[in-house]
Amino acid sequence: MGSPADFQNEIYLKGLGDVVPELPTDLTRLEGLAEERLSAKAYGYVAGAAGSEHTARANREAFDRWRIVPRMLRDVGGCDLATRVLGTDMPAPVLLAPIGVQAIFHPDGELAVARAAAGTGLTTVLSTAASYAMEEVAAANGDGPRWYQLYWPKDRELAASLIGRAKAAGYTALVVTLDTFTLAWRPRDLDQAYLPFLRGIGVANYFSDPVFQEAVGGPVDASNRDAALMHWVANFGDPTLTWDDLGFLREHWDGPIALKGIQHPDDARRAVDAGMDGVIVSNHGGRQLDGAIASLDALPGVVDAVGDQATVLFDSGVRTGADIAKALAIGAKAVLVGRPYIYGLALGGEAGVRHVVRCLLAELELTVTLSGHAGLDGLTREILATGDIRHGSSG
Ligand code: FNR
Repeated sequence: MGSPADFQNEIYLKGLGDVVPELPTDLTRLEGLAEERLSAKAYGYVAGAAGSEHTARANREAFDRWRIVPRMLRDVGGCDLATRVLGTDMPAPVLLAPIGVQAIFHPDGELAVARAAAGTGLTTVLSTAASYAMEEVAAANGDGPRWYQLYWPKDRELAASLIGRAKAAGYTALVVTLDTFTLAWRPRDLDQAYLPFLRGIGVANYFSDPVFQEAVGGPVDASNRDAALMHWVANFGDPTLTWDDLGFLREHWDGPIALKGIQHPDDARRAVDAGMDGVIVSNHGGRQLDGAIASLDALPGVVDAVGDQATVLFDSGVRTGADIAKALAIGAKAVLVGRPYIYGLALGGEAGVRHVVRCLLAELELTVTLSGHAGLDGLTREILATGDIRHGSSG
């Protein structure tokens, strides 16, 4: 495969035969198209956020306060964005964020995403709340890189079983999401009285789990389905977890572990003290705590606190290659993209996800080179001007 930016040439060359891309290349336009295509319930579930959606908006606005100051005449030929994050090789520091219940957006859901990820070399992070069981998704992903995201359930035996299965199915890093021990107040879903889990979507990893099955009297069928759903409700999250519980993860998972949902530098320090390998600065795309700060505004403090001791990753609000470059320049080692690839899935299945990934990587590479850099090393805070337009003077 050539460089990601070659996608641009491919598009223009196809244009000579009057072929244009099926989906927009400005990924901020996908949300509007997805609204036309999806049911009101599915669209509300992906596009919505918590409360007044203030934090979701803040996530986007924060990117506008940082601007790139380009440099000229610096030999940016042969740009290479490849990197290694938590033991996984990547063609660029971009991952597909864990997103549950993908079958409500496209029947192939996580399977289509896993295939698109494998085809583009990107790492997919599979949610515990997936609509297909992790073993099926692993089969669809083949040799592609994959991580597993844990929603830590109340039942410790179930938690151990889930991560044991993930290890056996070839997921190489564990992402533990901390900000969702209970679902937030989400008016778009509440107004439609819509929660996919109660309709049996997003529970595949639970229903296929031997520990879960034992608790509900055997494999889930019509006779125990309601009881199984209620068991899921009772077990989904554990609001009593504390930092002392993290030792349990280390006992049951011998690969890298990253904590997702970190926003405060002190929490990042505690993660390092607890022996975690990484933190993901994320506010769940504004879907959990409305009124919280923009995730990008939390990033500098976390990088300054632990950037030299742990792998700092970032998500929430990323829509373009420029957004990715800004988060990397602030100090993230890689960025997770959420809603954009789900809109791609909704609009075009596996091909739609691949389109989104290719656009993002092409735009990222062009952003890096047009800024005057030939690789990730050049992306430091010195390339950024903030609201008060200060920027570095070196290099
Ligand atoms: C999510 N997210 C999420 N996170 C997680 O750890 N496990 C999950 O199952 C889900 N499910 C989920 C569903 C939907 C529909 C969305 C939009 C998001 C959060 C996700 O991993 C990521 O943090 C955000 O999506 C990042 O914000 P952007 O890129 O969507 O703005």
